This record gives sequence, C-alpha cells and structure tokens, in this order.
Amino acid sequence: MTEEGNGAPAVAAARIEAQAAAAIGAAQTTDALAEAVTAVLGKRSDLARAHRDLGRLDPDARREAGRDLHDARQRLEGLAAERRGTLAAAERAAMLQGDRLDLTEVTEVLTPMARGRLHLVTQTQRALEEVFVAMGFTVAEGPEAETDWYNFEALNMPPAHPARSMWDTFYLDLGQPETVVLRTHTSPVQVHLMEHQLPPIHAVMPGRCFRRETPDARHLATFHQLEGLVVDRGITFAHLAGTLETFTNAYFGPDIHTRLRPAYFPFTEPSAEVEITCTICRGAGCRTCSSTGWVELAGCGMVDPAVFEAVGIDPGEWTGFAFGFGIDRCAQMRHGIADLRILDENDVRFLRQF
Ligand code: PHE
Repeated sequence: MTEEGNGAPAVAAARIEAQAAAAIGAAQTTDALAEAVTAVLGKRSDLARAHRDLGRLDPDARREAGRDLHDARQRLEGLAAERRGTLAAAERAAMLQGDRLDLTEVTEVLTPMARGRLHLVTQTQRALEEVFVAMGFTVAEGPEAETDWYNFEALNMPPAHPARSMWDTFYLDLGQPETVVLRTHTSPVQVHLMEHQLPPIHAVMPGRCFRRETPDARHLATFHQLEGLVVDRGITFAHLAGTLETFTNAYFGPDIHTRLRPAYFPFTEPSAEVEITCTICRGAGCRTCSSTGWVELAGCGMVDPAVFEAVGIDPGEWTGFAFGFGIDRCAQMRHGIADLRILDENDVRFLRQF
C-alpha cells in the first residue's frame, strides 16, 4: 500500500492530477494528446489504479478519496477537451496555410510570358498619329457603319455613280436596301468633321475599314486607314506634297523614296497615289509589290469643290487637301512584312516581336 493510499488519499489525488495535467499540457499535437489522455485517464493510468485501490480504505476515507479522484478526473477531462480544441485549431490553421496558393508567386513566374502588348496595327496607328500631331494636326474618329450619304454621296458619288465600283462594299441589312454600309474608307469621317467644325481644319482620322476583298499579300477585307484633312485659306497642292514628304521622312526615314502618281478619286481633284519603294525587295520586284518595285501607301488630292458644297463650306473662300493612308500597309513596309495576312493570324510568335 502506498503512502498516499494509506494516510493521505487527497494528496495522492493532487499529485496524480498535477502529473496528468502536465502531460496533457505537454502534448503538442492532437495525436500526442490522445496518447497522453489514454496514459493519464485510461484503465492503466495512475488515476484508474488509485480508484481501484479505494476498496482498501475504510468507508469514510473511501468516500472522501473517491470524491477527490472523481473531481480530479472531471477537471482533467475538461483540461484535455480544452487542449484538444486549441491543438485542433492550430493544426487546421497550419493545414490551411500549407494549402494556400501564393498567387503573387504564380503571377511573378508567368508575367514575362503573359504580359500582353498592343497589336502591331495599333502601335502603328499611334505612331502615325504622333507624327501628325507633332505637325499640328488634331485626331478625330467616326463610325464604322455609315449611311450611303457619308460613304459615297457627300463624297461626290451620287447613287449609281460608276466610281462606286472602286470600293467593293459590304452592305448592312438595315433600313432600305443598300442604304447602310460598313465604311469602305475613312473619307466619310471628313464629311462628319466638316459638318461639325468650321474651317480652318487640320485633322487626321484613324479607323477600321471594310471591303469585299479576297485577302492577299497586300490586302485584307478588314483593314485600317488614317485619313487626313486640311481646310484653310490658300491651301495648294504644294502643301499636300510637302506634308506627305515630311510624314514619310519622319516615319520611314530619309532612305525610302516616295513618288506621287496621278490618280482618280471622285472627292479630290487633282488626285494622286502615294507610293514608296517596296521595302521587301528594295525596288527589285517581288511577290509583295507584284514585281513593280513600288507599294501604294495612300490616296490623296485637293478636296473637290462638290464635297465642300455638300457640307456647306464655301469653295470660293476655302481650299483643302485630303489623304488616306493604309495603316496596315505602313506597318508592312516599315517592318518588312512580306504578307499582310499574318497580321490577322494572332500568332504570338509573330506579335511579340513588336
Ligand atoms: N478614300 C480613298 C481610298 O480609300 C483614299 C483617299 C483619301 C483619296 C483622301 C483621296 C483623299 O481609296
């Protein structure tokens, strides 16, 4: 019989409880706690043994010691439950922390591949705008769907005018048949501008255009133009030629040769085409320039008085010039892109070079 069992069961209960509480408190995981609980509260624990030993005490002492052991067990069970809660919470937090995806790290890893850029056509459009803004032009925009009036009639092409066949037109199924079109050029934006703004006007107008073309090395059915319009007093063809020269020098550099060839547009008189030496073959002749050594970049001319009349500007007081550059063509010639169709393919191996 132990000393405690004999004379001081309360002291025995207190010692057992203190040791058990220490073991419970020392457990660092829920698994370790479960083991500790079996060791201090289970059948083979000091507490259980002390309980079994109660039978050796006389009835009064047994009752007292029994109560002490019972109370000690109750407190230890409470302590174990509390410890279990604390450990379980810590383990859950640790698990969540371990499962956490560090998204900042993922972004960092992907960034060099995933970062986008402006499409070459957009970059080119902005570069062209910049050259003209530096020359004192403003930038304006207009709608991509136009009525027949803006795309043709106000530009000196009455209904059934044969010059309309210069533009293979997509008609929209809107309103009366053949009254609404996808604009075939940016020239209708000139009309919008002159309707809303009094001269003097110095503006460029970039935008998307649509023609019923079979795509080839130089043509896309959806393409981009940068329209230019200057309306002022005393504007001559020399101003037009000088402006085009300044532009091509600034954008292509002084090595590239430019030429103007007489042409016809219903809304300009006289009219011309702007051509540059083909940058793919340096003028020798290739598939891109159809073996001519030259590539057409723009149409241009002096604004026809009939256009001024259509928008209510007095052709006796004002004169002006206009031009329309193919933005995609400019990108093609500037970067030596043999076939324009690659611009539409969206192959990142091509796009990320620019
Ligand atoms: N709009 C003409 C075209 O697309 C180009 C142009 C613009 C010609 C302005 C003269 C003046 O073919």
